Amino acid sequence: MIRKAVIPVAGLGTRFLPATKNVPKELLPIVDKPSLMYIVEEAIEAGIEDIVFIAGRNKEAIEDFFDINYELEKKLEESDRLDLLQDLIQIREKANFISIRQQKPLGLGHAILCAKPVIGEDAFAVLLGDELSAGEQKATADLVNTYNDKKQSTVAVMEVPKSEVFKYGIIEAEPLDENTYKILSLVEKPSPEEAPSNLAMPGRYIFTSSILNVLSELKPGRNDEYQLTDAMDILCKQEEMLAKKTRARRYDAGDKLGYLIANVEFALEHPQLKEDFKNYLLSLHSRLT
Ligand code: UTP
Repeated sequence: MIRKAVIPVAGLGTRFLPATKNVPKELLPIVDKPSLMYIVEEAIEAGIEDIVFIAGRNKEAIEDFFDINYELEKKLEESDRLDLLQDLIQIREKANFISIRQQKPLGLGHAILCAKPVIGEDAFAVLLGDELSAGEQKATADLVNTYNDKKQSTVAVMEVPKSEVFKYGIIEAEPLDENTYKILSLVEKPSPEEAPSNLAMPGRYIFTSSILNVLSELKPGRNDEYQLTDAMDILCKQEEMLAKKTRARRYDAGDKLGYLIANVEFALEHPQLKEDFKNYLLSLHSRLT
């Protein structure tokens, strides 16, 4: 059973400066909730009980967000408005939060290795703190199902246009069935010419604890950072690793355009806002054509 999830949130967020100078990008709202709240909800929906944030400097607000604010809750309760925090209170009741400091942002691989003391020998999920998954079956629940069946490290993949492979970790893979692949190798942000396929990783993974052994021996790679993709490339040659094509939609909320797109898409599904927002978008038609 997968009960632990690591959510790295220690990156510098340079693509979203100046907004992210003091405010963690993971707390920027998508409509009315921080992007990280959707990610934590996705983890809980998949059966996760322990959430391990790998946090850096300026990220205390993340720990505070998932903690109780006694004065605020008392005030809301007195005025019968505690429902405004209902989703957050439910999250707090369902999951334990643990925070580990990544002293320096040395890369995603290094961030995951920081979780070693709380992961031990267990298999665990990883959800990137700035990638949103949306749709009926979110990526993590899908991966947990595959892991429960096969007991092998499994990563989510999605098809992207060849021209966009340079934004992602890309897998070389052999199909096992319509949606499942055996991973042969991986490469981080390749050029379209170098890319072994157009199967990209949207930031959702399940790992056996072997990944932590590989990470502890890993040398820095691209941009002089410890790359999770490099560790996975080593691991897939030591033990079988699977990729599962996800049907979920994916948004990169750490990128300005991705963030705007996520806000529009989530607003169009928001129960209270969708009608007014759709009418507003329709009113823009003459300005856009
Ligand atoms: P990104 O590749 O988006 O890097 O990290 P970043 O530094 O956060 O953002 P940019 O590229 O400068 O705009 C993917 C995920 O890994 C985390 C980030 O917080 C994000 O959730 N991360 C990255 C760490 O936790 N530590 C690191 O050293 C690097």
